Amino acid sequence: MSHNNRRYSRELVDGPTKAPGRSMLRAVGFTDDDFKKPQIGIASTWATVTPCNMHIDKLAEAARVAADEAGGKALVFNTITISDGIANGYEGMKCSLVSREVIADSIETVAGCEALDGLVAIGGCDKNMPGCMIALSRLNRPSVFVYGGTIRPGKNRTDIISVFEAVGQYARGGMRLEELEDVERHAIPGPGSCGGMYTANTMASEIEAMGMSLPGSSAQDAISLQKLEDCRKASAAVVQLLNQDIKPSDIMTREAFENAITVVIALGGSTNAVLHLLAMANAMGVELRIDDFSKIGKRVPMLADLRPSGRYMMSELVEIGGILPLMKRLLDQGLLHGDCLTVTGKTLRENLADVEDYPADQDIICDFDQPIKADSHLRILRGNLAPEGSVAKITGKEGNRFTGSAKVYHSEPESYQAILDGEVVAGDVVVIRYEGPKGGPGMQEMLSPTSAIMGRGLGNDVALITDGRFSGGSHGFVVGHVAPEAAEGGPIALIENGDRITIDAVADEITVHVDDAELARRKANWTPPEPRYKRGALAKFAKLVGSASDGAVTDDFQY
Ligand code: FES
Repeated sequence: MSHNNRRYSRELVDGPTKAPGRSMLRAVGFTDDDFKKPQIGIASTWATVTPCNMHIDKLAEAARVAADEAGGKALVFNTITISDGIANGYEGMKCSLVSREVIADSIETVAGCEALDGLVAIGGCDKNMPGCMIALSRLNRPSVFVYGGTIRPGKNRTDIISVFEAVGQYARGGMRLEELEDVERHAIPGPGSCGGMYTANTMASEIEAMGMSLPGSSAQDAISLQKLEDCRKASAAVVQLLNQDIKPSDIMTREAFENAITVVIALGGSTNAVLHLLAMANAMGVELRIDDFSKIGKRVPMLADLRPSGRYMMSELVEIGGILPLMKRLLDQGLLHGDCLTVTGKTLRENLADVEDYPADQDIICDFDQPIKADSHLRILRGNLAPEGSVAKITGKEGNRFTGSAKVYHSEPESYQAILDGEVVAGDVVVIRYEGPKGGPGMQEMLSPTSAIMGRGLGNDVALITDGRFSGGSHGFVVGHVAPEAAEGGPIALIENGDRITIDAVADEITVHVDDAELARRKANWTPPEPRYKRGALAKFAKLVGSASDGAVTDDFQY
């Protein structure tokens, strides 16, 4: 544990020369006494652009009041958010991963400039959660992350993925327009993050497993007394962490990242966990590599029957106790590091000591002797098509191997239209390229094409590979994060229509059956594409971003 209890705010408010700053702060409510207290930043991702975050202003207010009551002085500030659920399938989706970096930079900027001593960061959507965590890692000041909470199910247990898949069903004539509209109107009943084990719930679970949110934070409904209480306790915990001088670097250790990966696998979490955990580890200076997911994945089974590949929703897991009983089971099996410190000031083992097991009649979390899959569903595939790696989510329901013929598209919209038009048929491997971190730019998600494949009933007969990435809601035989990406001249750029491709999720290989000489000939004739954006946020991101296999970060990659 570090012993450098620096009070940043004192440098901003102590002494006669700081009178102007104090004067400003008096206007926002500071009293004489408040200048002696640690300043707690409440980083809110509130916005009405998406249901995931529309309630976070109320959570931030609960955290603000509690921080003051606990002996700190709270300052609330906002950062941005975007919604993948809304932007998917639109050119603007390229800004999604960019927003992770903007959010991280913005929280770091405010906390750095305003000399905040500790932070509560509240996130409720895919990118703002890793964005918050990257900022907390860089700042390394006593902090707690709070999850905004999951949405309740829509009518007939629908959610946002139901709507995406209904579009595909409608396109193949399996659903009338009025039925599609009915799903659209009733799938999203109010505030909260998308309701399956998609990216937001995956991120919340891994952050809790890592010890950076309070026990239970990841499995609470967005609109619930438990969530408000979680916010209040988070602020009190930050004040306690300040007193004990416990910083994120004391919590986010290599072992803590291993715990996070273990819980993501057991829950059947999103492929985005790979990207974001690599980025968070890089921000914290923890050496974590993409192949660590394979090493841990060999010993950890997938146990949760949760959407997108399974039956249940996050709110149904909440009803039986959330992820704490699962973590206790994993700890008892020797699959978690129990000595890791957490934001409670206690170890993970101590936090789990009094946790009760699930009710006997539940079937959401399987027993170890009857897993959904005996090892990880997240597969890191390498081979002549992805020498730097790629990420697949294979639960086994779609099989473990696929060989088919390439059908190549140079963008997500091009592929989506082709799938809706019936151009893609059984036996195809859809290749969507020039959608990587630099090429897209922004590595956009392929939820529309994967949902269209499902909606057209081709989930078991078509595979999809891309240098872009997937929504946590995507399922089927899909491989993303193919690196090096096409825009960098990676082998995915050299595939031609009709090339045979094999995806082997047992041997963890991805192969294009074209010999080296022919690939070299194609490479000699390949020219890099013109950047799609020459100015602005996307152009800046494209200039700075690194490989997906390193987390697609815009900071220097440290290892
Ligand atoms: Fe925000 Fe799904 S779009 S959690």
